[in-house]
Amino acid sequence: MDIFHIEGPVRLSGSVTVNGSKNASLPIMAATILAGGKSTLSAVPHLSDISVCSQLLGELGCKVTRGKNGDLCIDSTVIDNPVGDYEIVCRMRASICILGPLLARCGRVEVSMPGGCAIGYRPIDIHLRGLRELGAKISIKNGYIIAEAKNGLTGKEIFMGGPFGSTVLGTANVLMAATLAKGRTVIESAACEPEIADLANCLNKMGAKITGIGSPRLIIEGVKQLHSAEYEVIPDRIEAGTFMVAAAITAGQLQLHNCRLGDMMAVVDKLRSVGVTVEPADNGCIVARNGSIKPADITTQPYPGFPTDLQAQFMTLLSLAEGNSIIIEKIFPDRFMHVAELARMAANLRKEGPTVIVAGVKNLIAAPVMASDLRASAALVLAGLAAEGTTTINRVYHIDRGYERIEEKLNLVGAKIVRESI
Ligand code: EPZ
Repeated sequence: MDIFHIEGPVRLSGSVTVNGSKNASLPIMAATILAGGKSTLSAVPHLSDISVCSQLLGELGCKVTRGKNGDLCIDSTVIDNPVGDYEIVCRMRASICILGPLLARCGRVEVSMPGGCAIGYRPIDIHLRGLRELGAKISIKNGYIIAEAKNGLTGKEIFMGGPFGSTVLGTANVLMAATLAKGRTVIESAACEPEIADLANCLNKMGAKITGIGSPRLIIEGVKQLHSAEYEVIPDRIEAGTFMVAAAITAGQLQLHNCRLGDMMAVVDKLRSVGVTVEPADNGCIVARNGSIKPADITTQPYPGFPTDLQAQFMTLLSLAEGNSIIIEKIFPDRFMHVAELARMAANLRKEGPTVIVAGVKNLIAAPVMASDLRASAALVLAGLAAEGTTTINRVYHIDRGYERIEEKLNLVGAKIVRESI
């Protein structure tokens, strides 16, 4: 098990290249199930979640290889075991996004229900509701979802809104299943995340007929079959946002390459409101902070609102603001595992239900802390960059799920992070 030793405070300076998106890659890898043949995906990051997804597809019968140039090649000609095994699904909740494509391709599937999650209660009722609307017969047995559509699926108008708004992977599952359904499907209250738009663009490249991409109303004309394709996934806006906060919290200056500001307007707006400059630059931007950090209020929302996957990182930044900030988590109301760990580093935080009041302090103080989930762990790395002394972060495997060699990238721009295997 690896741990990080992070010396602070440091001032970051230099340039970083943002990787391809984890959250676009995972559903796009699942989409290759819909068409036999060899699909080639480029810019897919080297992350443990991608390895788990590759193993999952391998168990179904696919052949998944990485080319010398880093491209991921998925041969889904043979799918002879349409079962999403608990042993794999319990390691990565996003495994659930094989359900829709596997059902559309094979007509009968068994996929383990995803288990518990550190960021809170995450049901999949809307996924199942949407697939039932397409005509699937669904039952739950011994912790497995059994889904059948012997005569194929049939297109329909489906409302996919839930108590917290749209669902990202729920939209992905129903969208993928609808591509091979008979007739037209309309998904209302679809997720508008750039990762869903990327999935839809990839499906269209595989021969699907999807319109309304990027809007909450997706229209899918079902087709008889899809074909394999070559596709490049979009840059990772959450990794980019994490590096932007790294520049801001260290009063540094970073140039980010391969970063689409158009996917991050809510994030850029919030950074500018707390005194950080974000200037477009070739295929990316330059992020810098000179003056003090101003307080701000943040409410997480579905895209294009402020992303919940950057809530923890911004809490770390605002913990050093000159004044009080209020953070309201509207997507995962219990997503606050980082609060107690940041408090160990002398942050002044008060949690009331889905709200945290952040009273800015002059300095964070290094301490041994525990990583709990992917984004909370990234927030602790950012805190370590700004804190006085050497911070030790345990359970770094959480970070490796979503950030490729984060310590190497940060050390190249002035951080002092040592990874130790214990
Ligand atoms: C995706 O998860 C992302 N994961 C998450 O990123 C991200 O936090 C989340 O979207 C929200 O943006 C991937 O893309 C792999 P949701 P997903 O379904 O699709 C409720 C990261 O850090 N809900 O949009 O699982 C749900 O409980 C990860 O990279 C239902 O009630 O999230 C939540 O409160 C963490 N019923 C809200 O909707 C359902 O059937 C949004 O969840 C489905 C969801």
